[in-house]
Amino acid sequence: MYESFYGLSHTPFSRDIPTDKLYLSSILEETLGRLEYAAERQLFAVITGDCGTGKTTTIRRFAKTLDPAKYRILYLSDSKLTPRHFYKGMLEQLGYESKFYRGDAKRQLHREIELMRGIHQLQVVVVVDEAHLLDKEMLEEVRFLLNMKMDAESPMALILVGQNELWDRLHLQAYTAIRQRIDLQCKLSHYDRAEAQSYMKQHLAYSGATSDIFSDQAIDDIYRYSSGAARLINKLCTHCLLYGSQNGHRIIDDRMVKRVIEGELS
Ligand SMILES: Nc1ncnc2c1ncn2[C@@H]1O[C@H](COP(=O)(O)OP(=O)(O)O)[C@@H](O)[C@H]1O
Ligand SMILES: [Mg+2]
Repeated sequence: MYESFYGLSHTPFSRDIPTDKLYLSSILEETLGRLEYAAERQLFAVITGDCGTGKTTTIRRFAKTLDPAKYRILYLSDSKLTPRHFYKGMLEQLGYESKFYRGDAKRQLHREIELMRGIHQLQVVVVVDEAHLLDKEMLEEVRFLLNMKMDAESPMALILVGQNELWDRLHLQAYTAIRQRIDLQCKLSHYDRAEAQSYMKQHLAYSGATSDIFSDQAIDDIYRYSSGAARLINKLCTHCLLYGSQNGHRIIDDRMVKRVIEGELS
């Protein structure tokens, strides 16, 4: 559709942008550095950030950069995660059928993780995304995973990823035991105006754009509307490109952005 009108070879502002084409903000680089450290030392890390600020994308990139000869990443993202599904999901990713009862599955998982480390020399990295949706029982279960850390060497790296409420919840008295075990914390933030512009540039460069499509004032308005959240930038830019191509505008200016916001996104 609009791709051919603007002479683009890939769709910009899409969620499946390859991980080596991402916009590398300083906070993304810093977070990746910390996650690597957490994987290496088998630490417990918590990543929080508002919705659409790039948490899952950060994990996607992290998973791609981990050396598969050294690490095995287990990724879970399920808002209705129960302890049984938690163990089942991890065992399945390791290629095993989970035992039926929770306690059995738990022991089974521990054994497999020990084998991974002992025989295959692989360090396990468990990532639980959308962790702000986990209920108390599930967070307790996570705490149990950490309790495996009785011996000097911890059996796995654990990374909880969630919206800011996760951090607020972890500060409640009921979660003290979990909170005290957190080794590393990372907070993703909204982009500022300059970062939002670089972000857009990166998506457009990836898509093969050879000239500027958005005017400076258009970027001002996109920044204001999105408050620098990647997902909202994507949404608004996509609508603008559609609108622009349908109306034959090679350059998208602020008036068009306003029209799109008022017309389609209000
Ligand atoms: N650094 C980045 N470079 C390019 N696109 C990004 C980047 N960060 C996020 N995005 C895009 O923004 C959207 C929202 O990111 P996502 O990781 O799903 O946010 P969250 O998990 O915090 O809700 C995705 O479609 C993703 O492709
Ligand atoms: Mg996400």
